[in-house]
Amino acid sequence: MNYLLEQFKGKLSSSSYEVKLLSDIDSNKLPLHIAIIMDGNGRWAKKRNLPRIVGHQSGVESVRTVVETAARLSIPVLTLYAFSTENWKRPKKEIDTLMDLLKEYIAKELDNINQNNIRFSTIGRINELPDSVKKALSTAKKHTRNNTGTKLIVALNYSGRLELVDSFNRLLEKKIEHPISEKDIDGLLYTAGLPSPDLLIRTSGEMRISNFMLWQIAYTEIFVTEVLWPDFRGKDLLEAILEFQKRERRYGDIKEITCENIR
Ligand code: FPP
Repeated sequence: MNYLLEQFKGKLSSSSYEVKLLSDIDSNKLPLHIAIIMDGNGRWAKKRNLPRIVGHQSGVESVRTVVETAARLSIPVLTLYAFSTENWKRPKKEIDTLMDLLKEYIAKELDNINQNNIRFSTIGRINELPDSVKKALSTAKKHTRNNTGTKLIVALNYSGRLELVDSFNRLLEKKIEHPISEKDIDGLLYTAGLPSPDLLIRTSGEMRISNFMLWQIAYTEIFVTEVLWPDFRGKDLLEAILEFQKRERRYGDIKEITCENIR
């Protein structure tokens, strides 16, 4: 049995589509960092004549399964874009629901996150979030800090441009005397020390970056799927990885460069 199939033993029926996908995936060419723009919750609800918040509620099940799938695949970093700085413009009821869902997710899933050896982390201006959310986030970080498997990063109150502004301000504070380099900026981003995303997935068919990881995605492979986030499951993640493995990454060179030898 191949290494990846072993990680899913007992979870899938041998004839399932996932087994076929897992057999086709090259375990030596997995992305080191997958970032996801989870989009389409509102449209999912609208199609069913349901309030938008039901779309977000259903989206939490997708978060749960995708996080577990990434952990089984031993993907080193998974970043989920859950709330942008622009999302504060939404109706208060929707914002409150999103904050509540995040707290509920942590309360319900923390044991499972630990069992899967996942380390919980965040990026974004966390200090501007409500106190109860900050408390839940620090509990999740504290209880998972010794885990060595997938690092789950939830982007909250996040903006790619503001991340750059924050890093440039930190550069000013450091009073660096040499001309600034890419390395200086890399080291001050919220994602300092982490590999840049190899694969960026966006659900619901929109061809936009929406202010997400603007610096980090310079050479990221982008995969846009029509699937709405609440319908996105482990098999969709596997399909995206398979498609990623078919791409030839050249980083401006004329020959292919792999995830391993770029870093
Ligand atoms: C985009 O759909 C989705 C969001 C703004 C929120 C994503 C949040 C969750 C899936 C739940 C909580 C997160 C975690 C990590 C537990 P949209 O509302 O913009 O959809 P639309 O474009 O169809 O209107």
